[in-house]
Amino acid sequence: MFSNPIKAALVAFSLLFSGLALANGGEIAPQAGNEAEVLWQAIQQGAEGRTTSVNEFHPQLINAYDERMLDWRNDWLSYGLFAALFGMIAVFVLFIAVNGISKLEKGFSGKMVYRWSKADVAIHWLGAIPCLLLILTGLVLLSGKFIIEPLLGQGAFSAMAAVAKPVHDYMAIPFMLGWLLMSVKWAKNQIPAKYDIDWFMVVGGYINFGPFKGKHPHAGFANAGEKLWFWAFVIFGAVVSVTGMILLFPNLFEPSRTLSLIALLAHAGAAIIICAFSIVHIFMATVMSEGGMECMVSGYCDENWAIQHHDLWYDEIKANGTLKYQQK
Ligand code: HEM
Repeated sequence: MFSNPIKAALVAFSLLFSGLALANGGEIAPQAGNEAEVLWQAIQQGAEGRTTSVNEFHPQLINAYDERMLDWRNDWLSYGLFAALFGMIAVFVLFIAVNGISKLEKGFSGKMVYRWSKADVAIHWLGAIPCLLLILTGLVLLSGKFIIEPLLGQGAFSAMAAVAKPVHDYMAIPFMLGWLLMSVKWAKNQIPAKYDIDWFMVVGGYINFGPFKGKHPHAGFANAGEKLWFWAFVIFGAVVSVTGMILLFPNLFEPSRTLSLIALLAHAGAAIIICAFSIVHIFMATVMSEGGMECMVSGYCDENWAIQHHDLWYDEIKANGTLKYQQK
């Protein structure tokens, strides 16, 4: 009778356990033999019934909101996250193969300048490590059914999903803490300035050929690209956190069925943006900018790196006497 075992299970569940007496406007009068099908149709159309639950949204058993929204998740967002991760890696590998990295023109000076405090380095990794785990486990949960299962089979996918789910849930908490601390503590250094436009005009001086070659645009403590990443992280980190909380604690927030679905889509959309930016950010820090990675390891950067990439900041700390070298 049922084209799909999930439907049958849902109907059985509703009949046996929910105590939900469905009535299509109180008018459903099931015929013998087709009552379960009629009941299922009513559920699909969003019919409301009576329940022992006190939650105002629970009389409606499933979400009957525009079903195209679910297609967006399955047909677009799931592939979008996959593309954001592997597509951006492919683009960057290709870019570095063609363009090369950004070398320090005068080489390493060996003199290390104070840039980030120990607390800054700690909150960076408090947010960054969970963020990477959230992206990988989120990929399994969002795209696994459509991408991993056809490639590796149902067994492998369900084993991965069983691990991904709790890791994703638990990593949400340190990520949000890292996000909050970075957003509040670092915002003052990320205010856009007029010279940021010139930075974008020459792609930060990272292009090694044509009219861009050898250009070193002005930058303060953060350059324009870092500011863009920072504010994207603040905004989409907020979206991913708020929607994630709605999904993680439905008993606390008691969302409607429709709000849950909107939260799911917004969560995936914001995650795609954070993922794409993260890949660019990681490539810039680890491969593209020679000497850049040291900033988030020791908190110090080479003096020549500071002069080449953050000249206005270097001039400022030199002028106001706050330039501090690492003691050997
Ligand atoms: C392996 C992964 C990562 C590495 C190697 C890395 C490295 C770095 C480095 C070296 C900096 C300092 C740049 C500077 O001093 O100018 C930095 C800054 C920053 N990182 Fe990461 N990071 C990683 C992952 C992440 C992730 C996943 C997030 C998001 C949670 C993140 C968020 C930030 C933010 C917001 C900044 C400040 C803005 C900026 O300077 O770009 N990082 N990171």
